[in-house]
Amino acid sequence: MVTRTQPEKKPSITVLRNGPYRVEGVEDIKNSDGQNLPLQPITMLCRCGASKRKPFCDGSHTRIGFVGDKDQGRTKGQTNEYAGHQITIVDNTDVCCRDRSCITELPQVFETCDPNAASPEEIMKTIRKCPSGALTYKIGGEHCQDFGREPAMTITRNGPIRVVGGICLNDEMGSKPACEEHYTLCRCGGSRNKPFCDGTHADIGFRDDGD
Ligand code: FES
Repeated sequence: MVTRTQPEKKPSITVLRNGPYRVEGVEDIKNSDGQNLPLQPITMLCRCGASKRKPFCDGSHTRIGFVGDKDQGRTKGQTNEYAGHQITIVDNTDVCCRDRSCITELPQVFETCDPNAASPEEIMKTIRKCPSGALTYKIGGEHCQDFGREPAMTITRNGPIRVVGGICLNDEMGSKPACEEHYTLCRCGGSRNKPFCDGTHADIGFRDDGD
């Protein structure tokens, strides 16, 4: 039986320039099969998309000349607010990872951003599932974007790394998550908004088992 000991370091993810993510002090990391990755003091996760040992880095970023910066020519998204009778939906399109759980779950609300087309409880429940932090809400004078979860990371199938629980992101290029409590990190290498996922993995057909 494996005994999990208390991590010594505060959970953090460091974005190495043109290289992988260095993860420290995170006890709960699940792979795309839902299995726990072995607990390590430091885990290096691929972000160039080329590793043959995904989700781990195997040094392929050097071989392919990976450039991990944001695309300076990208069109930045914007933040829009949709005020309803009881709740306001806040939509920051700049960090949307095109997960589409909002559209799937409450299409009558999120296809047109109509905050009156469902109960506030249903809208809050759906927004709390938005992995990227693109969707948040305001209710009772409070902007709710911290959902109080334990630190955890999930490698999604053929998609980004979901981060919850306020794991500190260190990026020498200065990127900050829109919501400090949760965000999605690109691991296909194709996002124009690195280190954050922008949904490009679906466009390029990124696969966990691809080389
Ligand atoms: S994982 Fe790279 S854009 Fe989503």
